[in-house]
Amino acid sequence: MEDAVNKKLIVANWKTNPTTLREARILSGSIEAGVKSIKDVEIVICPPFPYLSNIKRQISNVKLGAQNCFWEQSGAYTGEVSPAMLKDLGCDYVIIGHSERKKHFGETNEIINKKLKAAFKAGLSAILCIGEDRRDSFDRRGHWTKEPDPEIKDQISGALAGLRKPRLSKISIAYEPVWAIGTGNPATPDDVFSVKLFVRKILSELYDRKIADSVRVLYGGSTDKKNAASFIKDGRADGLLVGGASLDVEEFTEMITNILRL
Ligand code: PGA
Repeated sequence: MEDAVNKKLIVANWKTNPTTLREARILSGSIEAGVKSIKDVEIVICPPFPYLSNIKRQISNVKLGAQNCFWEQSGAYTGEVSPAMLKDLGCDYVIIGHSERKKHFGETNEIINKKLKAAFKAGLSAILCIGEDRRDSFDRRGHWTKEPDPEIKDQISGALAGLRKPRLSKISIAYEPVWAIGTGNPATPDDVFSVKLFVRKILSELYDRKIADSVRVLYGGSTDKKNAASFIKDGRADGLLVGGASLDVEEFTEMITNILRL
């Protein structure tokens, strides 16, 4: 398969870490310095909301993303953060539909669809998370035993409902199997490749082949400096969504240099 997308996308999802602005600035400053000579990979850091504007002033080699957004741009919605605000603070990206948001905050495919539409309206690019809950589809050696979980198809078609073709140029899809997140038990590169093909097939059905080939498909779930390159090389992922390892500057920058060595 010809990959239309050449620049890999590496996204750091800090989740609810660290607990002080001081630590957040040290982390972003070190990542910024650590990747300064890297041009061929697009790197995005996604700190918690309160740190965004401060960190924005500190970075130029990496882009800024948020971990979530609301589905309206403004109004009487106490506690919410809108995509328009994120754009104004200098965010280019927003992660939408992370499995932790589904688990702890009840996000449904319908909510994710509304958030995606609002993010695009505000001019943000989105990283849409998808992934099955259980590892049923694998045999004991960890290989797919059947087609990827149909849940993935529902997640993609639900999230993209009503979105027209031009919007798809602003989306990346991150395959993040729930069982692999923060468990130290990543998917195999073969799994990632199967899901990438499955995602492409779904996008071809929903849109067309050209769109399907142009959307970056990332992998996330227990990635680290040892396995990062294999997901890109053998799993043919177009990038990674990195949780725990992105809080360790050395680990994170080595993941990127290992990918560049491919
Ligand atoms: P992990 O998290 O790399 O710590 O497994 C990935 C994610 O939740 O995006």
